[in-house]
Amino acid sequence: MGENDILISAAKQARENAHAPYSNFRVGAALRAASGRIFGGCNVENATYGLTVCAERIAIFKAISEGERGFDAIAVVTDTDTLTPPCGACRQLIWEFCGDVPVILANLKGKTEIIPMRELFPKPFDSSNL
Ligand code: THU
Repeated sequence: MGENDILISAAKQARENAHAPYSNFRVGAALRAASGRIFGGCNVENATYGLTVCAERIAIFKAISEGERGFDAIAVVTDTDTLTPPCGACRQLIWEFCGDVPVILANLKGKTEIIPMRELFPKPFDSSNL
């Protein structure tokens, strides 16, 4: 199994833990650190809706809070025919911590697409603007 397949598998596994009783839209993400460690995340919803956190941000915060810095790729998995790209807030966070990494989108039927972050987020606000 290639590195991307391993990351997709980790995202699928994380998706199993999604807490999405309000949207029923279950998302899994997995982030590969430069160290080789993989961090999974799932969406975690809340009855107040607005406190919901996306799978991608959970994966990033897990990794950062474990001391990881520097990431090679992130995968996002949903059970949809149209693959799911990260939301705007997550793009900002992925850019902050991962920069121009490949974003690997996949569904449960084996469809995949790889999009570089610079294409998903072409004119970012980041520390270079401060
Ligand atoms: N969601 C994610 O976790 N990641 C995405 O890339 C898109 C949206 C979640 C948030 C919410 O729990 C549900 O999907 C519907 O928006």
